[in-house]
Amino acid sequence: MTSRQDFDKSTTSEEVVAAFSNYNAGTTILITGVSPNGLGAAMAMALASEHPAQLIFTARQIAKADEVVNVIKTNMKDPPPIMSLEMDLSSFESVREATKRLVEQKITINTLINNAGVMALPHRTLSVDGHEMHFATNFLGHWLFTNLISSNIAQGGRIVNVTSGGYMICPIRFHDIDWEGVEALPQEEQPDFAAAKSLGIGSLTSPGDYNGMLAYLHSNAASMLLSVGLTKRLQSQGISTLSAAPGVVITELQRHIGSFRNATMEYKTATQGAASLLVAALDPALQSRSGAYINDCQLTEIISSHVQDEQVANRLWAVANKMTNCNF
Ligand SMILES: NC(=O)c1ccc[n+]([C@@H]2O[C@H](COP(=O)([O-])OP(=O)(O)OC[C@H]3O[C@@H](n4cnc5c(N)ncnc54)[C@H](OP(=O)(O)O)[C@@H]3O)[C@@H](O)[C@H]2O)c1
Repeated sequence: MTSRQDFDKSTTSEEVVAAFSNYNAGTTILITGVSPNGLGAAMAMALASEHPAQLIFTARQIAKADEVVNVIKTNMKDPPPIMSLEMDLSSFESVREATKRLVEQKITINTLINNAGVMALPHRTLSVDGHEMHFATNFLGHWLFTNLISSNIAQGGRIVNVTSGGYMICPIRFHDIDWEGVEALPQEEQPDFAAAKSLGIGSLTSPGDYNGMLAYLHSNAASMLLSVGLTKRLQSQGISTLSAAPGVVITELQRHIGSFRNATMEYKTATQGAASLLVAALDPALQSRSGAYINDCQLTEIISSHVQDEQVANRLWAVANKMTNCNF
């Protein structure tokens, strides 16, 4: 159970941060992907008002993070120290460089929110390291960053992996992880086409075909499995990892699908969407719930066995180690 059973889809980030202000004050919180009008900015602005020791924003375009820093500094009487750091999650080199800077400065992180993401690239795109861009950015970059920085995460710390409510639609395609177009995917790796259609993604038929929305949902499943993998490795150090979904919020995320609208979907404001991510980051009652999933500000049942399976998580972990030439 969360501490606040009264919180729901309409709860705002400001309400969450005020409720858990004792756990925010004096801590260092790092958010990836902070840019104007995004959920990262919504979290940042709410968190800044409750006296954290330090906020760290990462962005692939540092000017975007700095714009959020300026808004906070302009509008707040006593803003906390804020560091902005360039990190392109789709590049191993950039992730390593950013981590090096944090490690050199001996930064201790209490809360890490893996928020950055890209969605629905219309054409299959590869990262500089040669991997499908949604997988590379949303999962692999965060996997590498979290592992590289893990010894700087405080005992009793918290990691939040941001995913989406569609995490169950596209299981990990171990036979075609970079969407090269393998038709003969085993049944258990094929997307749920009916569920994809009901989400408004369109009529899809061939498991081999690249589809930007499916590639995004694939990376969301990987983010859920990152929580499983980190729970296994960090829970014994008192570090909890949760997955959280914001619901649907119009942000820059939809830049590649301008006309995407689904009449059955309920839209939230950015502060409402970010609220679920902040419950996952701050609620002390969730410290013992590593691996759990937060939606609409409450613990929510994970309805896919694939994204909770430790064997699948281990297999994905091994893939990530191989892709990054690491041995975590
Ligand atoms: N909005 C929704 O409806 C919704 C629903 C479910 C889940 N989510 C998740 O919520 C998170 C935040 O999304 P949002 O709605 O706030 O979207 P957003 O406004 O587009 O923010 C995403 C952030 O990620 C950054 N990013 C993209 N590619 C990157 C890369 N290669 N390296 C580093 N940063 C990168 C973006 O930077 P640039 O501006 O430079 O691209 C931006 O700062 C994402 O993980 C998203 O998948 C959102």
